[in-house]
Amino acid sequence: MSNFRKYSFLHSDNRAAKIFLLLALSYLLTGLLFGILGGLQYIFPAFLKDSLSFQKTRPLHVYLVITWIFTAAQAGIYYYLPKIAKRSIYWQNGIWLHFALQAINSLIIIAGFFSGSFGGREYLEFPPVLGGLILLSWVPFVINFFATLKPNFKTAPVYIWMWSTGILFFFITVSESYLWLFDFFRNNIVRDITVQWKALGSMVGSWNMLVYGTGIYLMEQLSGNEKASRSRLSFFFYFLGLTNLMFNWGHHTYIVPAAPWVKTVAYVISMTELLLYGYIILQWKKTVSDARKNYHILTYRLLSIADIWIFLNLTLAIAISIPALNLYTHGTHITVAHAMGTTIGINTMLLMASVTYILKKESAFAFKLNRKWLSRGIYITNVSLLIFWSSLLASGIVKIFGKINNETFFYIMQKSQPFFKLFAYSGICVFIGLGILIAITFKIALRKKQFDAIISQQHVTAGPAQIINLKE
Ligand code: HEM
Repeated sequence: MSNFRKYSFLHSDNRAAKIFLLLALSYLLTGLLFGILGGLQYIFPAFLKDSLSFQKTRPLHVYLVITWIFTAAQAGIYYYLPKIAKRSIYWQNGIWLHFALQAINSLIIIAGFFSGSFGGREYLEFPPVLGGLILLSWVPFVINFFATLKPNFKTAPVYIWMWSTGILFFFITVSESYLWLFDFFRNNIVRDITVQWKALGSMVGSWNMLVYGTGIYLMEQLSGNEKASRSRLSFFFYFLGLTNLMFNWGHHTYIVPAAPWVKTVAYVISMTELLLYGYIILQWKKTVSDARKNYHILTYRLLSIADIWIFLNLTLAIAISIPALNLYTHGTHITVAHAMGTTIGINTMLLMASVTYILKKESAFAFKLNRKWLSRGIYITNVSLLIFWSSLLASGIVKIFGKINNETFFYIMQKSQPFFKLFAYSGICVFIGLGILIAITFKIALRKKQFDAIISQQHVTAGPAQIINLKE
């Protein structure tokens, strides 16, 4: 096989990554559109009320954006696996089976939401049988992951541990989230809610493992330093993350009258995140100077931006994990700010870092041509996200003070209107920013043949390694 094919999207392993990347970006694009409709329904409650009410736009948005996170992480793993294992993906037909099962299932779920056919719990609002189909669609991915990698966990870098843990806990947490189908859980409301939120809280931990693992892999590739991902410090933070994945969900259930020790354990575990917080602060100076030095590398810039969002969201997460504060913040837009701040600021930025890394590797020339627009997309997304996130925090604060002052619901809503407007309009700007990144990725991936031709001409004189290293 020529080097050209080895480094191109035409190679079958890379094709797997490409179709999953395009699928993931389609989830993001449609998810964003429903998010915008939901945001507009905040300020114009009658907007599309009869055909596509908030009861439909919200689950459509949440399902699609969460699936974007999982699918983009899988796309990256499909791309990195053959490079790490130095062999082709083990079961090529398994990739297509994975793709077909997932795409069909998504179409059924979306059609169901449109027609008003719900049947699950929050975040998984489709009929339970489709939850089973999601698990089934992951089976070829899992087989390919372990059979291609054949990991030796004694010497494996931390990102292999993170990806493996993310996959394992995805299966555990999705299964757990359907325990309500059994009478033992369904007939006891405290048990039911506690288990449900435990499952969902840990499911977030499972996708974080996949996404953070990707971030660490990218760091290793950019720095060329393989030691960091095998260091004791990396594994310390991995185990800290794992403990939080398993036990820190409790702050979701502070208001449920479950056994007090459950809340105490959850609180203590949540506070261990202060260690991560302290580490980020200690590293701050170095992070800033590294970010300045490598600002021109878009992948590096996105990783640094995610670091800032980790800092901001960790501050918020630690604050709302304190029971005395959680009592006030629970059920306000501060929780929504926490959810969207982390899934956009951290998860989406890290996944976009992975997207830009793959684009540059695959189509250095096209990447260079579009670099300015990619840079603008990143800028617009993050400036508007800061306004978006702050407006949610502000409407949460308005509600808290309204409740403390015994104001009527109507009055609180009236006072929140300016912040709701800011939320909806800055949300449209987030859409524009991310839309630019999505459009350019589609453009490069779909016009690939032309660019391959250009690259292949250069390849004759330059060789693939130099092509990949074209300065941004
Ligand atoms: C990558 C982009 C995005 C991601 C990952 C994302 C993620 C999420 C998540 C996880 C939730 C559930 C929050 C909760 O239950 O507390 C949510 C809710 C929501 N999002 Fe997004 N979001 C994104 C972009 C947007 C944009 C651009 C808008 C436009 C205004 C938007 C509007 C909404 C609305 C209206 C809700 C419902 C909030 C509620 O329940 O009151 N989202 N989003």
